[in-house]
Amino acid sequence: MALPEDFLDELRSKNDITSVISMYANLKKRGRNYVCKCPFHNDSTPSFTVYPDTESFYCFGCAAGGDVISFIMRAEQLVYIDAVKYLAQRAGMQMPENKYDDSFSKLRLRILEANREAARFYHSQFYTESGYRGLDYLRSRQLSDQTINKFGLGFAPDSWTALTDHLLAKKFTRYELLQANLCVESKKGSLIDRFRNRVMFPIIDLKGNVIAFGGRIMTDEKPKYLNTSDTPVFKKGDGLFAFNIAKNSKSDKFILCEGYMDVIALHQAGFDFAVAALGTALTSEQARMLKKYKETVVLCYDSDNAGQLATQRAIGILRKENVNVKVLQIPEGKDPDEYIKRNGSDGAVKFKLLLDSIESDIDYKIEQLETRFDITDASGKFQFLDQAAKMLAEIKNDIERNIYASKLCEKYKVSAQDFEMQLAKYVRSNVYKSSREEFKRVKKQITESVPVSKGVQGGGLSTRAVRAEEALISYLMHNPDMVQSVTDRVPSEKISHEFNRRVYNALTERILSGKSANFVDFSGEFTKDENAYIASVFARFSNELNVPQAVDEYISVILEENEKKSAAQLAELPPEDIQKYFDEMKARKKG
Ligand code: GTP
Ligand code: MN
Repeated sequence: MALPEDFLDELRSKNDITSVISMYANLKKRGRNYVCKCPFHNDSTPSFTVYPDTESFYCFGCAAGGDVISFIMRAEQLVYIDAVKYLAQRAGMQMPENKYDDSFSKLRLRILEANREAARFYHSQFYTESGYRGLDYLRSRQLSDQTINKFGLGFAPDSWTALTDHLLAKKFTRYELLQANLCVESKKGSLIDRFRNRVMFPIIDLKGNVIAFGGRIMTDEKPKYLNTSDTPVFKKGDGLFAFNIAKNSKSDKFILCEGYMDVIALHQAGFDFAVAALGTALTSEQARMLKKYKETVVLCYDSDNAGQLATQRAIGILRKENVNVKVLQIPEGKDPDEYIKRNGSDGAVKFKLLLDSIESDIDYKIEQLETRFDITDASGKFQFLDQAAKMLAEIKNDIERNIYASKLCEKYKVSAQDFEMQLAKYVRSNVYKSSREEFKRVKKQITESVPVSKGVQGGGLSTRAVRAEEALISYLMHNPDMVQSVTDRVPSEKISHEFNRRVYNALTERILSGKSANFVDFSGEFTKDENAYIASVFARFSNELNVPQAVDEYISVILEENEKKSAAQLAELPPEDIQKYFDEMKARKKG
């Protein structure tokens, strides 16, 4: 059954390969990737690698490889369509056709209903004798009743079974309530409320579903915040608080802060584009969610140490998703909520001024750098500028880099000419270093022996050509925009290896018709073994091979090897043709 492209895209993006595989193996971060002992063979060293960038995995021990769907096929012993169903259920997605087991999506619906009922219940407690203090607390934090209602805030009573009783009476089952994480089992095995004596913040997704809750204790007790654990409708690191409102804001950016209260205070002050990650460090999933709607994210974390560390981390994650990052530092060690409150009726205006004056993350990093040197001293200033030049040299875009350079020169009153010379030195050495490393790696990959999985080995073909073909395929996957120039030079009949030719055809067709070139998109078209093989090609060439020399080299190897006829073919020719052929080859070698 052919599944729609966008369905599979959504399926893969909702089943982040790293988190899926981490259910089966103990992943350790290594660079951009993760490694572990292979779950599919008896592995003594970690030979299994997960590549988040390409959403793929590959085992160098047993040559298992592929995308998240192939992984589940192996791990759960399922055929393709059942693995897709499994992942759809995990992500709470509806299968595009109706002929499937829908018990899981029914459970999801029940959980969403239970959550909605719970939110209603929590909110209604404000108007009871015992729940009034929840409302009082929020008012004491200067939230207006309008704000409280807009966010659907509520109060979980100081009782073991208030919500449990309410939901059981509404005919929700014990299983549903446990799955929703609204209730937990007591030591004795009875059902009790998970949230007790807390003000409650419902977390709402883009469809308006209540997918989870955060609850704050009103005293200094710990934990200050308690959040819903993972459920069939909610995964930690997935949602963003107030995203449903903020994405519709007229603003062209998001403000990302640390806490629920910060977000609510900002919205109340008119900044309806504030969101927060839910009690976790920012994930790339969340960064992608943000990027989908707006280009710019203003980081507005607490100005304490933890907040600054989180800022640095978030900058990295957001930049990786090509988000335009800016940093707003709240003065005097406050969080946004405290800052707005402390400034009373000027709070909103003052925050707006801060927002207008913010700088990009590069400025922020340079400011941080400056604090490490004494720039009133000549040698301190020299060292600082040298480090700053090194930092700016990392910016790949020339125009962007020059803008920062000239700003820096102006700010620190240094000669632009001198600084630019220093900067150019670092830029050159970066370019030189990366292209040299790249070229060395490419050479090595072409000549290195490679594991080839069963079933796709080519009999009697030049391994040199086969490797160059693999390299070219991988190059195209990473540089789909080069498809025209590559296919012009290498028509598919020049690909010697039958399987490579199939992949080459499938790939170039996909690219030319405007579809994604990632190999994961092939999982439906090729067999398990074949996919493993494609994954291995991908794994070996997983960095961008942007060096033009490299691709020229692949192509010339392919074309050259193609000219060499196989011994078998030659034997069929009449003797004079064989002689002619060798003469041609000789002439070519000299030329
Ligand atoms: P207020 O003290 O109510 O103003 O909250 P805050 O937003 O200033 O809290 P804080 O800066 O301490 O924490 C920021 C965010 O981290 C919170 O909104 C929560 O999402 C999360 N967080 C804080 N404390 C806890 C905790 O004890 N457990 C969990 N799971 N998350 C927490
Ligand atoms: Mn706070």
